[in-house]
Amino acid sequence: MKKKQQDLAISGGSKAFPKMTGKVQPKVGVAEFLSIADRFGFKPVVLQRLRRTLKDSDLAGNGPHLGRYYGSKPIKGEEFEALGRKVFGVKYALGVSSGTGALHSAFVAAGVGPGTEVVCPALGFAATSMAVMLAGGVPVFCDVDASLHLDPTKLDACITPRTVAVAPTHCWSSMADLAPILRIARKRGLKVVEDCAQSPGASYRGKCVGSVGDIGCYSISCYKIIGGGEGGMVVTNDKRLFDRIRQFAEGGGLWRPDRFGPERYEGELFPGGNYRLSELEAAVNVIQLGKLNAVCNRYRQASRRIRSQLASFDEITPQTIHDAEGAIGYMLRFFPSTVQLSRTIADALVAEGISAATRGAEHGPDWHLSRDMYPVTLRHGSIPGGSVFEDPRYIARGGRAEYRVGQCPVAEDLFGREVMVTVDQYLSARDCDAIARGMNKVFRAYCTESPRGARWL
Ligand SMILES: Cc1ncc(COP(=O)(O)O)c(C=O)c1O
Repeated sequence: MKKKQQDLAISGGSKAFPKMTGKVQPKVGVAEFLSIADRFGFKPVVLQRLRRTLKDSDLAGNGPHLGRYYGSKPIKGEEFEALGRKVFGVKYALGVSSGTGALHSAFVAAGVGPGTEVVCPALGFAATSMAVMLAGGVPVFCDVDASLHLDPTKLDACITPRTVAVAPTHCWSSMADLAPILRIARKRGLKVVEDCAQSPGASYRGKCVGSVGDIGCYSISCYKIIGGGEGGMVVTNDKRLFDRIRQFAEGGGLWRPDRFGPERYEGELFPGGNYRLSELEAAVNVIQLGKLNAVCNRYRQASRRIRSQLASFDEITPQTIHDAEGAIGYMLRFFPSTVQLSRTIADALVAEGISAATRGAEHGPDWHLSRDMYPVTLRHGSIPGGSVFEDPRYIARGGRAEYRVGQCPVAEDLFGREVMVTVDQYLSARDCDAIARGMNKVFRAYCTESPRGARWL
């Protein structure tokens, strides 16, 4: 062996770089945790106590981090998912970074892609139909009934040879009529993807919405009834669908036992993205999810107490609720017979101190109504020529979905005419009684009380 080779550490010589002498700082340490506490306005004395408790040495090495990466157990993420399985009554749950991420992953998993269509309700939010388009499919809008949800009697007419899924949205704490939707979907070989972003905790015939169809999607975020910041969850009872959801939401392969291993069965692997939920969001959202039942129960109690005291009137049609026990009830909705009457009633309710609103026939564009969902109805892609409507696979299959004013007349009428009364979960019994009295007072002033009028469920 040459002298130069004998000097090598590999031959027993001394190491060139025996040990790093620089002091390793945790990537995420005391400062980050304190900044979170600071952000939420903890008092200086609490901050001091936290500083004393948290030490860099506790966070040494890589420190805890807020991601969900290989080799580190996503403790809070897994807690969130375990609780999701329990609360929603499903076999599989994946925490994701948003409701949109949940929907996008669900549609891809359900087989939505170029040349396919998904039936979406005319009321809900544009996120559902945009997620269809992100997956490469085309949304077809189905009109609603007096429940403000997808009208099952109009579903068949929206189904084409290109349809692969139907996506009932459970709106504003209520629920779609899932039994007939499911019956039609099964007969026509379609997947049912439930969008539960606005109604987590609502149930339909004893089962949580999201657990009835093939895949359920939730938004768990600060602008929904539970959630601290951003977040979402996808649930299913089907293992193959769950694998597809995970492959799409977590394309880095971190979900697999052997991350980079070969395909274990045909169709397991395809390009995926990253909708991973951070540990920080999971830590907050697992607590939020734990509060869901109590939140829903408070809403239910308040809403039921108000509704049980409302009289019936010829000119007032309450929103149809497909499962009165299962609805959460954070909004009381009803349809006066004309938009003028809706405006008069809403104004009078507000004057009584009751939180009420209506939109009127000439309301501005609103992405909760299909007619106004411009990112969808303009039929654009993100680049010229890149639209799902122009995809040769769509055209070759005879696809020509288009959108126009008047296409979903019931939704367009009810959306302008409805009056919404906000129900706060913290209303006392006395508050509920006062609201019910105020509503009856206003109704009696402008409408005809009648035992034949529609009843409040
Ligand atoms: C019906 C519906 N679906 C999906 C979403 C999207 O959820 P996120 O904002 O978490 O992406 C929303 C949000 O407003 C929604 O209302």
